Amino acid sequence: MMEHIYFSKEKNRLILLDQRLLPLKEEWFECQDTSDIVYALQTMVVRGAPAIGVTAAYGCVLAALESGSGKDWQDKLNRNLSLLASARPTAANLAWAVQVMQDLAGKAEFSSGPDLAGFWLEQALHLHEQDILINRAIGRQGRTVLEDGDSVMTHCNAGALATGGYGTALGVVRAAVEQGKDILVIANETRPFLQGARLTAYELLKDGIKVKVACDNACGLLMSKGLVNKVVVGADRIAANGDVANKIGTYGVALAAARHNIPFYVAAPFSTFDLETSSGDQIPIEDRTPDEVKYINKISIIPNEVEVFNLAFDITPAGLITGIITEKGIIEKPCQDSIRAIMAQP
Ligand code: MRU
Repeated sequence: MMEHIYFSKEKNRLILLDQRLLPLKEEWFECQDTSDIVYALQTMVVRGAPAIGVTAAYGCVLAALESGSGKDWQDKLNRNLSLLASARPTAANLAWAVQVMQDLAGKAEFSSGPDLAGFWLEQALHLHEQDILINRAIGRQGRTVLEDGDSVMTHCNAGALATGGYGTALGVVRAAVEQGKDILVIANETRPFLQGARLTAYELLKDGIKVKVACDNACGLLMSKGLVNKVVVGADRIAANGDVANKIGTYGVALAAARHNIPFYVAAPFSTFDLETSSGDQIPIEDRTPDEVKYINKISIIPNEVEVFNLAFDITPAGLITGIITEKGIIEKPCQDSIRAIMAQP
């Protein structure tokens, strides 16, 4: 899988594969300051909770460079870090990554923004590498639940493009395929941004992993016909009680899976858990522009005066989840105690 996020030290820019244009065009989007990063996050040049976290870590480097070396460089920096941390509300990894970078800087003395940027760049590169290693660990844990010949439904894109690389839900599939298992991925198309149809299909095709795209509304029928053996999805934020926020439509998939006794797994790193949020109803749900629903390729498909919903995420209650696959193991029937126990492990 190609690298889709990298920092150019020559240009001092973060370079992102523009996911808005895939699979039709592979174009790169260059960020040179905080406002470029915020724009890239908000318009979904880059998206997916762990990828958002990695981007934010590099964004801190650009924010530090931008703050310069005047007397007020720390105030400027703090303003830009707040803008970064609040660019999108639902994915826990965004504020987490900004906080990690701040904690790493700790109480050390830095003489200027560029001085801090040099330190942060090394940390951001490390966080990015760690994200890939964590995804591989999730893959190793999760592949045990997939059997040779399984058809695995996924919703949205929780693959290499949604992370620093390799993927969470698709990392589980990749790891099973690397073991020699024959797996077919059923990628729900995921209206309105079509992460499943455009991105999951694109990256699995590139890696030679079998994939078939299904309209979102085919989910119940495919399950009732016995065409789905497992569901594996990613997560944007997991509350302390195990409720999961993920792309809108995930809850419906989980309900249908429960009706048909199909195991429903969530794959996510610890950085997606938010133990400060007690349950799913406390998780902020991003409300995006109506235009994403009203237009397809700039063509209006809904009478202009009609209002639409564009809530970008929904909450799957813990009770519908067979297990949460993490880098340290699978949390079966997730609840507050089982989550705290696994996260407390050294
Ligand atoms: O709006 P998006 O595309 O950022 O939403 C992404 C998802 O919902 C993913 O499933 C989630 O972030 C997990 S990515 C490993």
